[in-house]
Amino acid sequence: MMDRPSVDQMTKESFYNDAKEYWQNIPSTVDGMLGGFGKISGEDINGSLNFIKPFLTGAWAERVGSNRALDCGCGIGRITKHLLLPLFQQVDMVEQTQKFLDEADLFIGEGASRVGQKICSGLQHFKPRLEHYDVIWCQWVLGHLTDEHLVDFLKRAKTGLTENGIICVKENIAKSGVVFDDQDSSVTRSKAELKKIFALAGLTILKEADQKRFPLGLFAVRMYALR
Ligand SMILES: C[S@@+](CC[C@H](N)C(=O)[O-])C[C@H]1O[C@@H](n2cnc3c(N)ncnc32)[C@H](O)[C@@H]1O
Repeated sequence: MMDRPSVDQMTKESFYNDAKEYWQNIPSTVDGMLGGFGKISGEDINGSLNFIKPFLTGAWAERVGSNRALDCGCGIGRITKHLLLPLFQQVDMVEQTQKFLDEADLFIGEGASRVGQKICSGLQHFKPRLEHYDVIWCQWVLGHLTDEHLVDFLKRAKTGLTENGIICVKENIAKSGVVFDDQDSSVTRSKAELKKIFALAGLTILKEADQKRFPLGLFAVRMYALR
């Protein structure tokens, strides 16, 4: 870990290439997706469910639809299987590492027939279908995009939302600034850095909350609902 990456680290080709290579060598398992912390998956899903449910049940002012969701940086489909398929009719998946998508049907099991498209793409290149998704879920992947690419991705994601649709972001949070991880070639941003990016993308924060009950010693994790 190194504090304060130079602009160079954030933009140079190797920022993306190193991440690609890192994920290529990670096993297609829940432990692989969570850096050896597979045991926190259940708590993570519970936290996400509590966060998103009010939007889907009408407890929030404008009810969000439950037709289609998109899982961004989905890996083998941990979130698709445990969070999104139980809540939405259909779930699309977008992921840069083809071998994780290849594992998805087997990992998801029964619900896999309700997975629509499985798109192999970096989010820095991805463009969703217009006004197509009720929820676009982005978790533990946005640190793989440079600030500029992240702003552009979020702008494109916004165009992919249905009328009352929302983008949900769930990411690790740095105490301040930006922390570069040279193992998986990603950055962890502070709340202030993320908020700057959301504003630049023209997004408003509808709700934000901390993930509770994760083991000590991990980064804080925060959830945002945006439109
Ligand atoms: C920490 S894992 C999280 C997987 C999943 N979101 C979860 O929580 O179970 C990060 C995932 O992001 C993918 N990834 C890395 N860089 C990416 C990029 N630029 N675009 C899309 N996916 C990317 C990796 O291949 C990996 O599957």
